[in-house]
Amino acid sequence: MKAAVCTRYGPPEVVALCDVPTPVPGAGEVLVQVRAATVSRTDRETLRGHPWFARAVTGLVRPKIPILGVDFAGIVTEVGDRATRFRPGDRVFGLSPERFGCHAEYLAIAENAAVAEIPDGIAFHEAVVGEGAWYAHSNLEAFGLSEGQSVLAYGASGAIGTAAVQLAKARGATVTAVVATRHLDLATALGADRVVDYTAEDFTARPERYDLVFDAVGKTSYRACKPLLKPGGAFHATDLGRWWENVFLSLWSSVTRSGRVAIGMPVRPEAVVGMLAELLADGRLRAVIDRHHPLDEIVEAYRHVATEQKTGIVVIDVAG
Ligand SMILES: NC(=O)c1ccc[n+]([C@@H]2O[C@H](COP(=O)([O-])OP(=O)(O)OC[C@H]3O[C@@H](n4cnc5c(N)ncnc54)[C@H](OP(=O)(O)O)[C@@H]3O)[C@@H](O)[C@H]2O)c1
Repeated sequence: MKAAVCTRYGPPEVVALCDVPTPVPGAGEVLVQVRAATVSRTDRETLRGHPWFARAVTGLVRPKIPILGVDFAGIVTEVGDRATRFRPGDRVFGLSPERFGCHAEYLAIAENAAVAEIPDGIAFHEAVVGEGAWYAHSNLEAFGLSEGQSVLAYGASGAIGTAAVQLAKARGATVTAVVATRHLDLATALGADRVVDYTAEDFTARPERYDLVFDAVGKTSYRACKPLLKPGGAFHATDLGRWWENVFLSLWSSVTRSGRVAIGMPVRPEAVVGMLAELLADGRLRAVIDRHHPLDEIVEAYRHVATEQKTGIVVIDVAG
């Protein structure tokens, strides 16, 4: 099969399209013919071996896993021994955050991992929203965002931010989205109750207060957002912070049990994909797609993701 392979850390150009053996589904696994995948910030950071401490997991000198790609959508073509959940022909989507492997024509994945059926009417490229939604959900869930509460989503135009707006609305929260001018209409279309243009005004100087401020793109800080929090409110981030302050502040919040600052670590994706399928099915979650590239143009896709300017997701059309 064809796969995008990286044998060393580096810029997008180290990724090469190669012929590699098609995986064989083991016991309890299914083989998926991948029809769509994404190049995400995770793929890009893993490719460049960043942050440095992550290399303890991803490989000290070179990537341990040469085929990246976390999000997939495709068709089950084979089932391994004792795999009973899916049948050949089933349309499935999901996440492979530990083993990656989605930048390839085929992916073998445990049937009880993060895999769910694609709802009727949703195309493969519309189903590869999993990773951003997983990160967003993990933060909303860790905070315990509930109906009637208010959230400010900062950087609501990226993969995590566009999902955060939709998932917060699905929870019945009131959402303020902070984006650049070019994304104001998008944020409104995603359901934001209020949109703020960060290029035109200082969002921290506004009078509104929030239960949760969620920095979905790692470009603001607790210090800047602290005045926006209601009593008992919290600041959640997806990133370490400019000086890694979110790490220290979230540790301190845990020690003091204040819950004031947190990096909502995404865990148990298998517990999330079923919910995402329901939200996709009834239209409460939709993919925001910046652009498509075929698999043989994946270097181009990485280059665009590296600009940190993408809107939503960058889709790789793998086959068909
Ligand atoms: N290390 C990892 O493995 C990993 C994995 C996943 C996510 N993350 C972190 O999670 C965060 C979000 O990831 P993502 O995939 O959702 O990001 P993304 O899709 O790359 O976000 C890009 C969006 O952010 C907007 N943006 C850029 N600068 C901004 C600013 N100063 N204020 C507000 N918006 C700004 C851009 O639009 P404009 O420039 O037009 O505003 C663009 O639409 C990142 O910090 C990323 O590092 C890390």
